[in-house]
Amino acid sequence: MDKALIARSFAKALKTYDGSAVVQRRVVREMVRLMRAHDFPEASAIYEVGAGTGLLTAALLAEFKPSRIVANDLCLEAGEPLGALSRRVEFVHGDAETLPVPPGCTAIVSCSAVQWFADVGACFRNFANGLPAGGMLAFSTFGPTNLCQIREITGMGLDYKSLPEHVALLERAGFAVVEAVDNLETVVLGGVGELLRHIRETGVGGVEREPAGLAQAVRFRREYEARFSVPGGISLTYHPLYFMARRREA
Ligand SMILES: C[S@@+](CC[C@H](N)C(=O)[O-])C[C@H]1O[C@@H](n2cnc3c(N)ncnc32)[C@H](O)[C@@H]1O
Repeated sequence: MDKALIARSFAKALKTYDGSAVVQRRVVREMVRLMRAHDFPEASAIYEVGAGTGLLTAALLAEFKPSRIVANDLCLEAGEPLGALSRRVEFVHGDAETLPVPPGCTAIVSCSAVQWFADVGACFRNFANGLPAGGMLAFSTFGPTNLCQIREITGMGLDYKSLPEHVALLERAGFAVVEAVDNLETVVLGGVGELLRHIRETGVGGVEREPAGLAQAVRFRREYEARFSVPGGISLTYHPLYFMARRREA
């Protein structure tokens, strides 16, 4: 996992992310609904991992009146939009896989970031170590069917873990999983040009590289259109996974 490449891709996408991240917006809405359904506490100190431009951060501020949000991101440039949201938001730059949970935080949340982690199990253990018993971990990530059309043609993609694999890692790390659900979200894009722009503008290019060279680009376009055309354009599938877990007594 090339962390510098991930940070660079998201830094380049910061200005366009909010306009293009249609699925990530839907994911934030679903996450808030699940947090409400599981009585996520108001007025708590929250550690948010991979906060990006702050789509989830803004929703947390509006919905749960947190006392503070420590918003982390690998991408240094994310500090500006996050800091502008509220005085209650404090930015922490760095790799959430190695940073300790900030002292005083009683809940950890994250949307659409954990799929970038190299060692998800170690990260869950790190989260468990930093939370009090009963503390909530609420996060979304992506599963094996994510961006399946691109993988089918290029063979490239992240090494996505399944829902049961995440549950097993969470339980082993010291969490009781109270909900684990997934669904498929499809976006229809005008054509392959729009697809490549969509990927660039949401920062996914950290791993899902664009086809290099004219011959490869022509082949990619031809195959994508032949196999994944739908009324109105071509389809791209996302596979969000959602987890609500509580830190067990040590
Ligand atoms: C798809 S964006 C999601 C942003 C935001 N949470 C949302 O829902 O819109 C993923 C974010 O995770 C960040 N990220 C990826 N790996 C990370 C890591 N190891 N530590 C901290 N942040 C990371 C990226 O820089 C990026 O801003």
